[in-house]
Amino acid sequence: MVAKNELLASFQTRIEAKSAQVGVIGLGYVGLPLALLFADNGFAVCGFDVDPHKVTELERGKSYIKHIPETLIATHIRSKRLRATADFSRLREMDAILICVPTPLDAHREPDLSFVRDTAESITPHLQRGQLVVLESTTYPGTTEEVMLPILEKSGLRCPVNSYATDGHQVTLDADPETDFLAAFSPEREDPGNKQFKTHQVPKVIGGVNSSSAQAAQLLYSQAFEKTLVVSSTRAAEMAKILENTYRCVNIALVNELKLLCMRMGIDIWEVIEAAKTKPFGFTPFYPGPGLGGHCIPIDPFYLTWKAREYEFPTRFIELAGEINSSMPEHVVASMAAALNLRKQCLHGSRVLVLGIAYKKDIDDARESPSLRIMELLQERGAQVEYNDPYFPHLPKMRKYDFGLRSVELTPETLANYDAVVIATDHSSYDYPAIVRHARLVVDTRNATRAVRGHDEKIVRC
Ligand SMILES: NC(=O)c1ccc[n+]([C@@H]2O[C@H](COP(=O)([O-])OP(=O)(O)OC[C@H]3O[C@@H](n4cnc5c(N)ncnc54)[C@H](O)[C@@H]3O)[C@@H](O)[C@H]2O)c1
Repeated sequence: MVAKNELLASFQTRIEAKSAQVGVIGLGYVGLPLALLFADNGFAVCGFDVDPHKVTELERGKSYIKHIPETLIATHIRSKRLRATADFSRLREMDAILICVPTPLDAHREPDLSFVRDTAESITPHLQRGQLVVLESTTYPGTTEEVMLPILEKSGLRCPVNSYATDGHQVTLDADPETDFLAAFSPEREDPGNKQFKTHQVPKVIGGVNSSSAQAAQLLYSQAFEKTLVVSSTRAAEMAKILENTYRCVNIALVNELKLLCMRMGIDIWEVIEAAKTKPFGFTPFYPGPGLGGHCIPIDPFYLTWKAREYEFPTRFIELAGEINSSMPEHVVASMAAALNLRKQCLHGSRVLVLGIAYKKDIDDARESPSLRIMELLQERGAQVEYNDPYFPHLPKMRKYDFGLRSVELTPETLANYDAVVIATDHSSYDYPAIVRHARLVVDTRNATRAVRGHDEKIVRC
């Protein structure tokens, strides 16, 4: 075995000289910005993906994610600072390997760690002494040490789990065991499309399998991120990420439930939130909507729920929040049915246009989008459904849905053609006054029409 300090010192030398090569596995919404960030900071980066389309597009300097500028990719590809490959044997050339693969739920809503397992299996034959492997995918506490590490150690190299002390900045190395390779967990906190915070401005939380690993990961990330925070274990880092997303999930459920109460009481929930958020302390605003979407908030809390069962511990807040949030699409459809009923119309046979497929505004990601569930419910009730979304010219086949539809053009004539228009995603490019002017009925799930004056009789805010 290589002595711990020698191993770490050699890693440090390569990182500080920027001669270290950084491998990023999984070049999606999270992995691609991360790869670009390390390239921006002077490292040679190699992206690995099993999707040949992504690899080819990157190698051609093209972007397949709308909010990631092509020019940035092209510049790094030209300078050879960024490469992409599906050849995993090249992992042996890397000094650090960062894993950003999906962590979805399976058909039984249980954690599907197959992508993490497959990735660890593809690293193992190529794992080298002194390499740092970091899992960034969101997952339940225990995954790095219970799932990833045993697979990597099948290589014959060891990375013993050992506790260490940290004040967040400094890691104590005293009791570190000898380790052949380094392993850590550092949660990805990317918020796709967020123009206020860039990837490098969001502090990087790090938990090492042992103190050398924690220190190596801190050395690496501090080259690209403004702030790092080292916690005392991979479990604490895994739990921190789940807490962030559970906090959002539970608070969104709270405002969704209060929205239903406010509607009965004739109070505008949006006005209430605007008023409450003027308190300069102790209140963070969350907003109601048509339900949860995306790869994180509807999914991650259930990773914890699953793990908690091992400890015979019921996660009641999470279950309740899930129940409330997932009932929101039904609420939207019921509100539309009630509004049509007042006009002596029914959903069955009505023509409905859904505006916005993305799970949130101004991005091209439809994973778990409540728009899809709303469309499904409308179809089940006999409505003829079409959609518009500038980010989705056609609706690709998804795991659960296959509508086979194309985005309809948004003109005064088309808008007037539908019995109802649902604003499911409040993209900035939509002209809301024009939508209200030309549509016969607008069901607004995002308060997107708040500034529209007149035509109140046409708008249902729900
Ligand atoms: N999207 C977000 O907003 C966000 C934010 C924070 C954290 N996360 C977490 O980050 C992780 C990745 O999410 P994402 O949104 O980037 O997913 P994504 O689906 O956009 O990208 C994942 C990529 O991994 C590739 N991949 C799958 N299996 C692979 C394998 N065995 N080897 C190599 N590549 C493989 C896929 O082809 C895909 O390109 C998830 O755990 C997610 O929960 C996502």
